[in-house]
Amino acid sequence: MISLTEQGKKHQPLAQIDGENIVITIWREITHPMQEVHLIECVDILMYTKAGLLRVKNFELKHTDEPKITFPVSDLKSGTYKVQTKCNLHWTWYDDFVI
Ligand SMILES: [Fe+2]
Repeated sequence: MISLTEQGKKHQPLAQIDGENIVITIWREITHPMQEVHLIECVDILMYTKAGLLRVKNFELKHTDEPKITFPVSDLKSGTYKVQTKCNLHWTWYDDFVI
């Protein structure tokens, strides 16, 4: 079990495969706020390639959105990916996943 910092508990994304979908939640123990002054601004899906990380998907979020992304597994080919989330106040956070 990984020990998370207080910031990590509400910022570190978690990528999970749920049936036909990939579900990315932007919290571990505490739901991240989605307010005009403090929110998760974007979620990028990056694929590990021989040339480095390649951005393959981008989601822009508004304060009225949930801090959660769902998209079909079929949108990605087999490989190793990094999900990168950006909080407007607390920088970027990561998780890796394999499909
Ligand atoms: Fe934050």
